[in-house]
Amino acid sequence: MKSALSITQILLLLFTGILLFTLTECQSSREKTVVKDLRVEYMKNPIGLDEPQPRFSWKLESDERGVFQTAYTIIVSLDESFDRIVWNSGEVVSDQSVAIVYEGTALLPATRYFWKVQVKDRDSHTIASTEKAFFETGLQDSGWSNAQWIKPPERDSLSMVPMFRTVCTLDKKIESARIYTSGLGIYEVFINGKRVGTPDKTGSITYDEFKPGWTDYTHTVSYSTYDVKDWLATGENVLGAYVAPGWWQGAIAYGKYGNPDLGFIAKLVVTYSDGTSNIVVTDPQTWKYSLDGPVRQSDIYNGEVYDARKESAWTSVGFDDSAWHTCGINTNFEGKIKAFIGPTVQVRSRLQRTPVKITRYEGVTDTGSDYGMINVKESYIKPAEISLPKGQTLVYDLGQNMTGWVKFKVKGNSGTEVRLRFAEMLNDEGKKSRGDDGPGGSLYRINLRGAKALLHYTLKGATQGEEYHPSTTFFGFRYCDLTATDNIEIESLTGEVVGTASEEKGSFSTDNPMVNQLFNNIIWGQRSNFLSIPTDCPQRDERLGWTGDIQIFGRTACYNADLAAFFRKWMGDMRAGQREDGAFPSVAPHCWVGWGQAAWAEAGIIIPWTAYTMYDDKRILEENYPAMEKYMNFLACQADEKYRYNGAGTDYGDWVSYVKTENRYISVCYYAYATLLMKKISLAISVGKEDEYAQKAEFYQILYDKIKKEFGTRYTNDSGMLTQDTQTAYLLALKLDLFSSEAIRAKAIDRLRQLIADNGNKLNTGFVGTGTIMPTLSDVGLIDIAYNLLLQRENPSWLYSVDQGATTIWERWNSYTKENGFNPDIGMNSFNHYAYGAVAEWLYRYVAGINFDENCPGFKHILLNPSPDFRKTFPEGQKQITQAEASYDSYYGKIRSAWKIESDGSVKVKYEITIPANTGATLTLLLPNESSEVSESRKLAKDAEGVVSFHKENGKAIMELESGKYSFEVK
Ligand code: BGC
Repeated sequence: MKSALSITQILLLLFTGILLFTLTECQSSREKTVVKDLRVEYMKNPIGLDEPQPRFSWKLESDERGVFQTAYTIIVSLDESFDRIVWNSGEVVSDQSVAIVYEGTALLPATRYFWKVQVKDRDSHTIASTEKAFFETGLQDSGWSNAQWIKPPERDSLSMVPMFRTVCTLDKKIESARIYTSGLGIYEVFINGKRVGTPDKTGSITYDEFKPGWTDYTHTVSYSTYDVKDWLATGENVLGAYVAPGWWQGAIAYGKYGNPDLGFIAKLVVTYSDGTSNIVVTDPQTWKYSLDGPVRQSDIYNGEVYDARKESAWTSVGFDDSAWHTCGINTNFEGKIKAFIGPTVQVRSRLQRTPVKITRYEGVTDTGSDYGMINVKESYIKPAEISLPKGQTLVYDLGQNMTGWVKFKVKGNSGTEVRLRFAEMLNDEGKKSRGDDGPGGSLYRINLRGAKALLHYTLKGATQGEEYHPSTTFFGFRYCDLTATDNIEIESLTGEVVGTASEEKGSFSTDNPMVNQLFNNIIWGQRSNFLSIPTDCPQRDERLGWTGDIQIFGRTACYNADLAAFFRKWMGDMRAGQREDGAFPSVAPHCWVGWGQAAWAEAGIIIPWTAYTMYDDKRILEENYPAMEKYMNFLACQADEKYRYNGAGTDYGDWVSYVKTENRYISVCYYAYATLLMKKISLAISVGKEDEYAQKAEFYQILYDKIKKEFGTRYTNDSGMLTQDTQTAYLLALKLDLFSSEAIRAKAIDRLRQLIADNGNKLNTGFVGTGTIMPTLSDVGLIDIAYNLLLQRENPSWLYSVDQGATTIWERWNSYTKENGFNPDIGMNSFNHYAYGAVAEWLYRYVAGINFDENCPGFKHILLNPSPDFRKTFPEGQKQITQAEASYDSYYGKIRSAWKIESDGSVKVKYEITIPANTGATLTLLLPNESSEVSESRKLAKDAEGVVSFHKENGKAIMELESGKYSFEVK
């Protein structure tokens, strides 16, 4: 029998086929999308969080194009099986996946909460998170259960390091345990002979250095929370801690807190399996102290004196503490103890350095120069075990300027003293005329100014050798030298990098090795100068939170590493340091120098704005808004008879520039800058057209217009050009749109071009101008000049110091030159100052073109405008950069942009772009000519999947793109 399919059957089959096909397609697309990297307050599984309404974030990851979230559901529970739910957000129709505020029942103190999220994609498919995600609250208002700040009642020397201990009995089976601790000074905690830290899944333990970190101690000190169940045992237990002067009482505090005592506070909460608990707190009655430990002296600037013969099992059960003394109560601290959240300071083991060269020398050879040259006995190119006879010196070169300390293993007789000195550079020819401070080949240390930067280690004489690194001080160094009072064997010596362990997020490279070295130097400048706070330099007697430096480098810093929590904390220091009249300090935490200086104090507005645009952190704006307004009021009062809009103080101006721009000019421009930002910030916080913030935005617009008008009166001549005829002056006025008409602006652009050309294609800007020059040149259509400056190798330029052997960014373009030696301004000659590294912002945002969209912050929408090196003419000695690649790992995922210019007769440019899921981008590509074609994976770009719109305008192709990976070609 012939069988025939009816039309209905055929349709049914077809439909089933389509359905099956669609299902499989969707299934695979859904499977390919994952929800990952769950965070609370920008941290992974934080513990000890005192935020009443913490914020959640997650990422969607997918290889597909056009993946986005249409809804989310967050569930927070007291237990891992999600039976005791405290918040179910319900399905929220939203594509937001960063900074979502907790809105459940009030969080309990010292409690762990588990959370998960499920999202819906554009096809309404559900994707659930699978990571174990939790956060744990800190003490909140539950307080310290009468824990007291304990102290040694007396110390002979202020740099002595007290040790504290107590013995407690835990008489039942332990279910869980937390220890909450803080210190006045920098402290370390031990339980039963083991240092307290955070174990990972594999059992390896991460330790936090320099707790409690640096805060403005007049207001706040941080406490840390650790899960210490594994440190404790049923029965007798010993808690121990030592406290060193650190930022609280060392020389670096500049007497800010008087001459206070060191202190320690702790609360141990043990929950037993039967549900009962035991709390142990610091109490002078039950804790004892001793000053007779191995750390004999400690100071951040000056170093550490350590006598290994004094080591003992003082943190272990069974130690005889009968010679220890009763503690006193420390009443020096009057601020609040607040939970620390953010990346901690750690030894960054991934960055550990082994010596690239070791030199052993004895005495000096007279070479006719002032100091002569070191008399080299032997050089070692590879790390080696070395015998060092008494009277000789070893010089270690770690190949990289860095911040941290050295760890070494040594063998020798008990009582032998080893001395190590640290330096960033070596003297070259031993000549005073070259700025040397000693024989060629020895350590150049004069730029450390008052910082002694020394280690003294006394051997205990262990037959197997003994290993040591300091723990209460740090150095900015590439070199160290080592001498001993008796013959010793050095088995090993490595450089350990110590700093805030923020996750590194950015990468950048080109086909120009010098530019790559420059980028590497910038990264190392950041690794070296982010240590609890953003510092100016890590070596001399400063290491302070100079506000001008970080406002200039802040954007670059955020591309390089995740600083969301770091900056939020640091803004607390800014607020604490704010003067009564609203002036923000020049260093935060404030301990030295003044307030209200232009381009420094404005960090109080610039940094929150930077963090908001990078991380969609509206809270940092809201939290600091009153302080910012207070600052704007301070500025409003800085008028004299002649002018109303003077701006802030004039102490620093365009710091260390080659050509002077009047300091007052910088202040006025920064007033305009602060006002423009206040307008944007007000709009960002505003929730309705008529609300208070919308009105404030209008107010700041009017204020800006007034400043602009008076700027014109004050600083422009009859033809509209600036009376301050410098690069920095034109850059600021262009950046801040301070010219009165388009025509004058065009003339100003010409003038700027001329000023740079007249200077031989070189900049001559200081901190302020250098922080502005590259983006501003690019924004006004002079990107070719920006490329010329990038590749310039004469002084002053970025590559000039690379040519002179820099491995970090220097305070001066010519801190050292092969031709003339050291910069004679020894008081200001740091070899590790990040400010000029601000050029990396331009590398990310313009060269690679990975730019944030301030109207859709946190890279939810990305402005991608890669700008290849399309120069037609090149200054002598320069070559075109033909490829560049950068990535930035945003809170939505990794953004990547790479380009390559290929020319075989005609120019062809290839672009590779990655846009993370749940975001979109506007991609702008420069077209070599009107008829240039843009293709994507061999299709016309306008027809490619994920390209939502495409048009050409003013020699550019502008596309709206959905998430995904793209390969464009323009020819
Ligand atoms: C610091 C600078 C800082 C400057 C302001 C210097 O000593 O190292 O980076 O911004 O002072 O005066």
